[in-house]
Amino acid sequence: MRLIVTENYEEMSYSAAQETAKFIKENPELVLGLSTGGTPLGTYQELIKLHENENLDFSKITTFNLDEYIGLEPKHPQSYTRYTWDNFLSKVNIQKQNVHIPPGIFKDEKQVLKEYDEKILEVNGIDVQILGVGGNGHIGFNEPNQFLHPNTHITNLTDETIKDNSRFFLNIDEVPKQAVAMGVGSILRAKHIIFIASGDEKAEAVRKTFNEKITTHCPSSLLQLHANLTVILDKKAARLLN
Ligand code: GLP
Repeated sequence: MRLIVTENYEEMSYSAAQETAKFIKENPELVLGLSTGGTPLGTYQELIKLHENENLDFSKITTFNLDEYIGLEPKHPQSYTRYTWDNFLSKVNIQKQNVHIPPGIFKDEKQVLKEYDEKILEVNGIDVQILGVGGNGHIGFNEPNQFLHPNTHITNLTDETIKDNSRFFLNIDEVPKQAVAMGVGSILRAKHIIFIASGDEKAEAVRKTFNEKITTHCPSSLLQLHANLTVILDKKAARLLN
């Protein structure tokens, strides 16, 4: 594991974007795993700048999102589909057919889950996964539990996650209770993971991720098993690390 501790959120974002760009330049056909939430917003802004100012090319890049809320239309302001297009993909030269985000509304659950995994397999898995962490150690929407899912599945969000994510909604009752989530197997099979976290509120999750034993009750602790992990933290998020 390579650890980079930066002064603040802006530097964390810059560093994560530079790291991602390095992989894109090495492999213009990179399969990039995308995370959502507040943490990667700055990274996406820096990647957009690299596209605008240095012609970083996304024309052959394929993306897979980690998750989507169940029950939200793609155009809903808080859907991860809308988030990803508004904050990143509509501002770079990606091809629409190369963008993969699980649907939040569907009839055939089994088919949706199977298709998402098949699409990931078809491109031989994720090359580089940009990954944040929930305050309770969730990755994507793989919530702490006795068992974790290797593949794409429907997940019930924990009360803690619903509360954390309610800051993006008008009120807590509007936060969906379930999501379609890529499994920990697909995440851990990513050839490289760029893990990002910032702020005091992530310090304990970061400590449990890297300084405690591996447990499904802190899904991010499974990252200790990954061979190609770059961890980029600001100093507040890193403050409890040994
Ligand atoms: C959501 C996403 C995760 C993300 C987490 C942390 O629940 N599904 O992928 O890592 O939130 O988000 P934030 O960066 O806003 O703290």
